Amino acid sequence: MKRLFSGIQPSGTIHLGNYLGAIKRWVTIQEKYDSIFSVVDLHALTVYQDPKKFRNQIIDTAKILLASGIDPEKSIIFVQSEIAEHLELYWILNSITKVAELELMTQYKDKTQNGKSSTAGLLNYPVLMASDILLYDAQIVPVGEDQRQHLELTRELARRFNGLYGKTFKEPEELIEKVGSKIMGLDNPTKKMSKSASSEYNYIALTDEPEKIKDKIKKAVTDSETLIKYDPLKKPGISNLLTILALSLGKDVKEIENKYFGENYGRLKIDCADAVVQLLSKFQENYKKISDKKVESVLKKGAASAGKIALQKIEEVYQKVGLR
Ligand code: AMP
Ligand code: TRP
Repeated sequence: MKRLFSGIQPSGTIHLGNYLGAIKRWVTIQEKYDSIFSVVDLHALTVYQDPKKFRNQIIDTAKILLASGIDPEKSIIFVQSEIAEHLELYWILNSITKVAELELMTQYKDKTQNGKSSTAGLLNYPVLMASDILLYDAQIVPVGEDQRQHLELTRELARRFNGLYGKTFKEPEELIEKVGSKIMGLDNPTKKMSKSASSEYNYIALTDEPEKIKDKIKKAVTDSETLIKYDPLKKPGISNLLTILALSLGKDVKEIENKYFGENYGRLKIDCADAVVQLLSKFQENYKKISDKKVESVLKKGAASAGKIALQKIEEVYQKVGLR
C-alpha cells in the first residue's frame, strides 16, 4: 500500500474550506492508502500563537480530525512537534535548499508584499513541509491548490539529496481535486477562505451553530446580476456557493448549476446553508462527544507509531550524509 501524508495547522478556527478541501477527502482516502495525518504545530508557529491558547488549539484540531471520521485504527494521527526528527531532517534539507528558491514561493511572496520583512521561519516553511513528507517516504500528498508549489520543491529536494548522497527519498505526488481545492471567503470571494481572516463573515467554522451558518451564507457577497452560473472569474461569489452546495451534497457542480438555472440568488443561498448545516450536523454531534482525554490518548499512540518510522529514516539520512 502506498503511503500518504498530509498536515493541517492548528492556527485558529478550522473552517469549511479546510473541511471540504482537505479533511472530508482524507476520511475517504484513508481506506486506500497507509495514511498519516499530522497536526503541524511547528508550521503554525511561523505566525505568533498565544501560548495560553496554543496547546488547546492543537488538541482541538486533532479532535476535529477524529470527529470528521479519521479513524485512528486505520491511520496515524500525531502532533508534529512530538517527533523531533522533523526538525533534524529540516536542517539537513535546509542545507541543500537555495534561498532564491524559497523566495520564489508564491505563499511567501504574498506574505511579504509591500517590502515587509519576513522571519526566517516563514521563508523556510516549505523546507519543514518537505521534511514532513520525505521523513515518512510518503508518495501521495493530498493538499489544496495553494500547496502545489511546495510539493514541487519537495520533489526537487528529494531529487537533489538523492543525487548528492544516493537514493534515499521517494518523490511524492500531490493529489489535488479539481473542485473545492480553493473555497473562497464568503465576504470576499476573490480570496480563499482563511483562518487568519479578520472578519468571521469570511468563513464558516466547523463548530458554528446552524443559525450562524445560515446568517453567514445569507450575507455572502455575490454580484448584482441575477443569473446563476458557474463562472469563477466573472461570478466568484455565486460560483463559490455552487461549489459549496455541490460538495456538501456530494454532487457535481455542473448538475447543481443546471438545477439552479433560472432560480434566484436567495433560493441558492437558503439551499446552500441547509446543505452545509446538514453536512456538519453529524460532525458536530461527534465533536461534542469526544473528550480531550481521548484525543490525548490517540495522539500518544500516533506519536509512538510515527516516531518509529521517523527514527529509522533519520538514521538512514545521517548515515548517508556521513554524520554516522
Ligand atoms: P491550513 O489551513 O493551511 O493548515 O490548510 C489545511 C488544509 O486545508 C490544506 O490541505 C489546505 O490546502 C486546505 N485549505 C486551506 N484553506 C482552504 C480553502 N479555502 N479551500 C480549500 N482548501 C483549503
Ligand atoms: N503547509 C500546509 C498547509 O498550509 C500544511 C502542511 C504542513 C502539510 N506539512 C505538510 C500538508 C505536509 C501536506 C504535507 O496547508
